[in-house]
Amino acid sequence: MADLSTNFLGIKSPNPFWLASAPPTDKEYNVVRAFKAGWGGVVWKTLGEDPHVVNVNGPRYGAIYGADRRLLGLNNIELITDRPLEVNLREIKAVKRAWPDRAMIVSLMVPCEEAAWKRILPLVEDTGADGIELNFGCPHGMSERGMGSAVGQVPEYIEMVARWCKANTRMPVIVKLTPNITDIRYPARAAKAGGADAVSLINTISSITSVNLDTMSPEPSIDGKGSHGGYCGPAVKPIALNMVAEIARDPETAGLPISGIGGVTTWRDAAEFLALGCGTVQVCTAAMTYGFKVVEEMKSGLSQWMDEKGHRSIDEVVGRAVPNVTDWQYLNLNYVTKARIDQDACIKCGRCYAACEDTSHQAISMSEDRVFEVIDEECVACNLCVNVCPVENCITMEVLEPGTIDTRTGKVVEPDYANWTTHPNNPGACAAE
Ligand SMILES: Cc1cc2nc3c(=O)[nH]c(=O)nc-3n(C[C@H](O)[C@H](O)[C@H](O)COP(=O)(O)O)c2cc1C
Repeated sequence: MADLSTNFLGIKSPNPFWLASAPPTDKEYNVVRAFKAGWGGVVWKTLGEDPHVVNVNGPRYGAIYGADRRLLGLNNIELITDRPLEVNLREIKAVKRAWPDRAMIVSLMVPCEEAAWKRILPLVEDTGADGIELNFGCPHGMSERGMGSAVGQVPEYIEMVARWCKANTRMPVIVKLTPNITDIRYPARAAKAGGADAVSLINTISSITSVNLDTMSPEPSIDGKGSHGGYCGPAVKPIALNMVAEIARDPETAGLPISGIGGVTTWRDAAEFLALGCGTVQVCTAAMTYGFKVVEEMKSGLSQWMDEKGHRSIDEVVGRAVPNVTDWQYLNLNYVTKARIDQDACIKCGRCYAACEDTSHQAISMSEDRVFEVIDEECVACNLCVNVCPVENCITMEVLEPGTIDTRTGKVVEPDYANWTTHPNNPGACAAE
């Protein structure tokens, strides 16, 4: 059986699944239930200084659904913990003592003054927590007070606060990054420059999920007014994966440990984050949607997949996909594929035809009795038919073997160049520039 245990910055956990800082980790009752369900660790809901914040009393969430009303994206306007600091600290201490084998990270957000960090760090250290996560990510409510993403959007502040924390605690420091920035590499580099031991990402994405067309108020609506919130859940996973990959392959941050967050719902999502360089993953929306027991499926799925692939430990998976993330100009233009429709699986809905005929390359024909066929001479292999087809694996992309003639271009498919890395071999890339 594959070994799921992790050692992230010296913090050990029985599996890589941590609950992200959010309502599931806001109190002892929740965290104990989570540990009983099998989560490997938690990042406790962000603590701030007293007097603690006051949340809205109206709805604080909004959502985007798929056609089956499966929750795809969640928006929230919640602040950091609204429970007294002393209560949280007491509970963290008790839980860590009772569950020594689980990772206990404490998320923190205090004003951008060294004195404030100096005040809170020893209090957290006293709980026996394994590490801290600096919340430089919340895009709403706290950022207007000069905290959260207001810090995370300024690399100099990230570096400065990370340095203060490293100077004032012996606990490992994880910097949680905001995705509400143009190039994620800059804040990650700043975290490293400040001495941070790791980064975690992503926090939520600034968003308005909907507008009530009767009241003309953004939702969630508080007495007729709404404000932007933070977006998360399955919808944000592609954004998170890209940001993680950017940091993992940036020579300036290569090797910096990453805890991956954003839309992790299944073991497969987690495996993808691990493959792109994450040592652990954090989960919020999936737990809030399906309850703590989702972790069972995540653990068994990951373990089974690792067994099938012969990966004995999490370390053997971490970063495996990073060398295959490249820039566009290095993509192999000799690689030619064509769409293929499995006539037995086809339900004759015609989506592939409509999409290709109206918006793409007119590469699918439709007969009178609704048989859909690919016209190789027109197919540029864009993949849109695969993407819109409602039947999984009904349309697939076939790779043309070297030596075959691509009837669209009239050219023979060349074997791969040994060094497909430079522009001279790549006229397509030159033309595109
Ligand atoms: C209701 C809610 C409250 C959150 N509160 C915090 C918080 O206090 N501190 C923090 O760092 N992140 C907070 N987050 C962000 C999550 O920790 C996480 O980064 C984000 O939800 C993306 O993960 P997911 O797609 O698995 O939900 C919150 C998210 C939600 C939905």
